Amino acid sequence: MAGATQQRTFAIRTYGCQMNMHDSERLAGLLEGAGYRRADEGAEPDVVVFNTCAVRENADNRLYGNLGHLLPVKNAHPGMQIAVGGCLAQKDRAAITERAPWVDVVFGTHNIGSLPALLERARIRREAQVEILESLEQFPSVLPVSRESAYSGWVAISVGCNNTCTFCIVPSLRGKEEDRRPGDVLAEVRALADDGVLEITLLGQNVNSYGVGFGDRLAFGRLLRACGEIEGLERVRFTSPHPRDFTDDVIEAMAQTPNVMPQLHMPLQSGSDAVLRAMRRAYRRDKYLAILDRVRAAMPEAAITTDIIVGFPGETEQDFSDTLDLVRAARFASAFTFQYSIRPGTPAASMPDQVPPAVVAERYERLAALVAEVAWAENRKLVGSEVEVLVAVGEGRKDSATHRMSGRARDNRLVHFAPPDPAPRPGDVLTTIVTSASPHYLLADAAPLTVRATRGGDAWAARQAGDARADDYCAATPVLLGIPALRTPG
Ligand code: SF4
Ligand code: F3S
Repeated sequence: MAGATQQRTFAIRTYGCQMNMHDSERLAGLLEGAGYRRADEGAEPDVVVFNTCAVRENADNRLYGNLGHLLPVKNAHPGMQIAVGGCLAQKDRAAITERAPWVDVVFGTHNIGSLPALLERARIRREAQVEILESLEQFPSVLPVSRESAYSGWVAISVGCNNTCTFCIVPSLRGKEEDRRPGDVLAEVRALADDGVLEITLLGQNVNSYGVGFGDRLAFGRLLRACGEIEGLERVRFTSPHPRDFTDDVIEAMAQTPNVMPQLHMPLQSGSDAVLRAMRRAYRRDKYLAILDRVRAAMPEAAITTDIIVGFPGETEQDFSDTLDLVRAARFASAFTFQYSIRPGTPAASMPDQVPPAVVAERYERLAALVAEVAWAENRKLVGSEVEVLVAVGEGRKDSATHRMSGRARDNRLVHFAPPDPAPRPGDVLTTIVTSASPHYLLADAAPLTVRATRGGDAWAARQAGDARADDYCAATPVLLGIPALRTPG
């Protein structure tokens, strides 16, 4: 327990998508700015923050289960505070302190900047503080940030979403789309590059509609090109694009900007036009496939990944088989597949013809098997080719049995490689030859062709030397590398 003169410590538990992960970096930055420090591993923090997600079925039961486990800990740790923020807090509001009266602070998605003040107020007044706003008070990017990775960073370009997909709770929790000014985005990207960051991921719920807010429909392509001008920035990625708004100027910008990576994660959700209509997704399978054709014509080496929901209400065996056909035609490098389940508060929750769970589960197995088969065939095509790998923390740990290290190729494929001696640092870059492939990764067991120490590796080493947070990176890095529990919905 922290004494009166000791710095209070915190820990943040984050659920959901990259947007939430990035919000947690802001929450950490705010708390550090307010004089808190991260709790050491294994130590009981003075403040526990839950940054929640509302997407998964039973998300609320899981939250209350976690809060219940924390009650005896809090009782044994005088002065401990518990804060609940994020999408589930925005949804459930005061119900949280009714069901878990030992929670001290509830804050929403629009006011993460209030957390330090709410904690302070709850401490002084000795009563729970609940503050949920209906719209954004301040674009989160103006808030301080405590980044998880030394060499990779997220940059939010917009928050919220103007679409109304019938399975999605996000618009009601994150509000209408708000776009950040390109100058602000680019200033943040430049500052990150100056700090040794090699790779950025531009984040938005629908990056292709970026610019609607300030009347420039070509703004996203322009932003990609402008990122190409930033010295030291080696890899630019983005998530999530929406097929409805995906325009050719973006494909051209991707193909013509060398540091924009040959990779596209574009949510499909279903390969059936009838299901897409019921989902209120304003594109059809032909349009989706035509975008992929144009992307591949411009960038033959592009790896395309997606999200697919199985068992949406009304999905017939024929609809499902349309999805399987599309997966074969699209040759996805991988896909995040989800079994549809009722999400309270969404239009789809009250639709007739909910598909029985056993049918959903059986279709899911068939889809997952096909996705793995297609991904494996795509990965095998790369055997014998040269890949450039950005060495990763966490994934980059030496495997004790094989001694391999890991990282991501330019197209975001996971690569396990035989390390040279001395081993490269996370954030360094090497080139190597792919020697074999599995459905989920590439192997490169020959000695690397080149190894390049980078400013990203220097930044990582500097943190290792001077910052205890280096220990935290392993948990965060898989997310930065594109394998989070959830994708940013799109
Ligand atoms: Fe918006 Fe994506 Fe949700 Fe659709 S799925 S409403 S595009 S955030
Ligand atoms: Fe979950 Fe909110 Fe992201 S509901 S998926 S954390 S936008």
